Amino acid sequence: MIIMSDLFKDVLKDSESLFKNEVALDPEFTPKQIPFRESENQYIATCIKPLFQKRSGKNLIIKGSPGIGKTLACKNVLRELEETTDDIIPIYINCWKKNSTYQITLEICKALDYKFVHNKRTDELISIITEKLNRKSSVLIFDEIDKIQELDILYSLVENLFRKTIILITNEETWLYRLDNRLKSRLIPDQLDFRPYTLEETKEILKQRIGYAFPSNIISLDEVNKIAQKTHELKDLRTGLFLLKESAEIAESTSSKKIENSHVETAISKIKDFKKPVELDEDEQQILSIIKSNSDKTTSEIYSIYKEANGLKSERTFQRKIKNLEKLNLVKVDEITNIQGRSFKIKPLIEF
Ligand SMILES: Nc1ncnc2c1ncn2[C@@H]1O[C@H](COP(=O)(O)OP(=O)(O)OP(=O)(O)O)[C@@H](O)[C@H]1O
Ligand SMILES: [Mg+2]
Repeated sequence: MIIMSDLFKDVLKDSESLFKNEVALDPEFTPKQIPFRESENQYIATCIKPLFQKRSGKNLIIKGSPGIGKTLACKNVLRELEETTDDIIPIYINCWKKNSTYQITLEICKALDYKFVHNKRTDELISIITEKLNRKSSVLIFDEIDKIQELDILYSLVENLFRKTIILITNEETWLYRLDNRLKSRLIPDQLDFRPYTLEETKEILKQRIGYAFPSNIISLDEVNKIAQKTHELKDLRTGLFLLKESAEIAESTSSKKIENSHVETAISKIKDFKKPVELDEDEQQILSIIKSNSDKTTSEIYSIYKEANGLKSERTFQRKIKNLEKLNLVKVDEITNIQGRSFKIKPLIEF
């Protein structure tokens, strides 16, 4: 006897989906066209071009806030490079996923299709990948570089590869300032800042994704505008992709054939619940990002890092900014008393 569960019986019905291709709203989806990033793509390509003449390329650090196409643009350049030549080896590493020297080394072995990694020490593997990479030229992209835990692999590649372009991607303004001087002076990277998209650009990009994800006439221009407006406010395209997907799922759950205003409003209210708009000035943003990447340090240690990156700001101004961040529940300051006396430790609080 089949017992039909009440909770899930509707999923067994031949439900009509509003999506043509839901995957197109996934942040990992790679669209073929990347509008509004032509000049950035061109800039990255210029850094790589000397490799075609068997000269070394330029290293590059790419900065910019989350969700504005940095990863997408770089992956696109690697894809085009792969389609153009076999003489330049493309490597992409996400340092959030792979953050130790050993993990990154294994990842490069994998990209090079080198399988004999068992029972080999990290330094042996590094020599092997260096030798393999040096047979050709290479472009190595280290995405989310601020999440890397150990820098020796970077140091070794910068030092020992003859013909390469190393691209580092980060949304932390201060990461490069805090970098070890030995590494900095060997990298000497060009810098490329990605600017956030304008409202019109945001709208165009979302429309393109709508074209991939839905059959035509599922969503009206008014609703697209509303989603684009919210996305532009938060300056993160992932918000727009989330809102489109969420609105469609809400519409489906009410068996609507279209995405209506109420569905979009409900989806927007979901992000309002966890994303309260916080306006930070430039110093506060910078201090917050220093705190995030230096968890559990004392106020005076954070101040030293900040001063080194920034120069002129007085300690009093710094303390005031910390108070603001504390008030906004972005950081927590704990008093520590030990033999050396009193000090204050700062921790970032979880942000959504
Ligand atoms: N110009 C564009 N055209 C089409 N889609 C885009 C464009 N820019 C960004 N996107 C899409 O927006 C989403 C976020 O982009 P991406 O992952 O490249 O952001 P990012 O700048 O690397 O962010 P983070 O710093 O958080 O890693 C992805 O789904 C990406 O495909
Ligand atoms: Mg990225």
